[in-house]
Amino acid sequence: MVNVGLVGLGYWGPNLLRNLVTNRRAGRVVICDRDEGRLNRIGERFPNCERTLSFRELVTSCDVDAVLIATDVSSHYPLAMEAMAAGKHVFVEKPFADTAGKAEEMSEKAESMGLVNMVGHTFLYSPPVIAIKGIVDSGELGDIRFITSNRVNLGLHQKDVSVIWDLAPHDFSMIFHWLDAEPSFVEAFGSGYVIEGIPDVAFVNLRFPCGAIANVQVSWLAPSKLRKTVIVGSRKMLVYDDTEPYEKVKIYDKGVDVIEPETFGEYHLAYRTGDIHSPKLDSFEPLAVEMEEFLRCIETGGTPKTSGRSGLGVVRALELADASLAAGR
Ligand SMILES: NC(=O)c1ccc[n+]([C@@H]2O[C@H](COP(=O)([O-])OP(=O)(O)OC[C@H]3O[C@@H](n4cnc5c(N)ncnc54)[C@H](O)[C@@H]3O)[C@@H](O)[C@H]2O)c1
Repeated sequence: MVNVGLVGLGYWGPNLLRNLVTNRRAGRVVICDRDEGRLNRIGERFPNCERTLSFRELVTSCDVDAVLIATDVSSHYPLAMEAMAAGKHVFVEKPFADTAGKAEEMSEKAESMGLVNMVGHTFLYSPPVIAIKGIVDSGELGDIRFITSNRVNLGLHQKDVSVIWDLAPHDFSMIFHWLDAEPSFVEAFGSGYVIEGIPDVAFVNLRFPCGAIANVQVSWLAPSKLRKTVIVGSRKMLVYDDTEPYEKVKIYDKGVDVIEPETFGEYHLAYRTGDIHSPKLDSFEPLAVEMEEFLRCIETGGTPKTSGRSGLGVVRALELADASLAAGR
């Protein structure tokens, strides 16, 4: 059994908590928030959890083996470093840190101390994203040519980070995972319309060493919720719509073949439109699998699928996108 502490009981932390307390590998669960009202409100819903207002107390005197951090982004680095200095395994919500330098330091510290460090790239534990990874790896789509991704909705505006740092970690983590690569080129274009100085819409372009390109659109300023990714391969095409209740993933047997010219300079294009197939997806809660992965890796000494290193890769791309946005190039 693993004794765990969870800091941050705002919007997201209680979701982690709900999946921790039902996990058979979790022993004592101690919850922490410096907001006393919030700590007590959540504490009443989970009466078996011990409570503390102090993160220092959580890592020094609560006898926990691991700490989960679901606080605002700027606090990820100091809290994770303090927890690791006290010998705790750490799970850090996305984005792993607010700079690539800090993310690198966090990964290195965990590795040098033999501690598990994991980032909350939740989508990588979701049935459609796992299924798409299998489809891409099987070669069914052929060579991946390009990916477009839309993650837009009305709100929730963040006060401390741009829409890129808030929403793009999801798309970046999925795309990097499917392609098994980080981008060799990143550029972003965007604007802040509601809160001055905080971009609320951004279009990010990426290029990967395999030749694939991607475009990620993120915004808190849109009339309806879109969560749509299109992957175009040399053989088939795939659409992943996370707002669909049932058929979230569809594979289209569509493409264009170039017919060899019979005479010099004459070529023909053959457009192929075949079947549309929607694979049956498993049904489980991604967060439950994510919590299981963290606790299992602590018990077995394994490396999580979403290790600190994958968190670092995403932060590196976020930082480049932000720099491109700021520089206007
Ligand atoms: N994986 C996902 O899909 C997903 C979804 C939403 C949010 N998140 C991430 O979760 C994290 C938290 O986001 P949120 O929207 O819940 O934030 P929030 O502002 O709603 O909550 C943060 C909480 O942390 C507490 N806190 C901050 N610093 C503290 C400290 N030093 N000691 C004790 N308590 C402290 C605050 O009092 C607050 O209750 C962010 O990194 C966010 O990006 C992840």
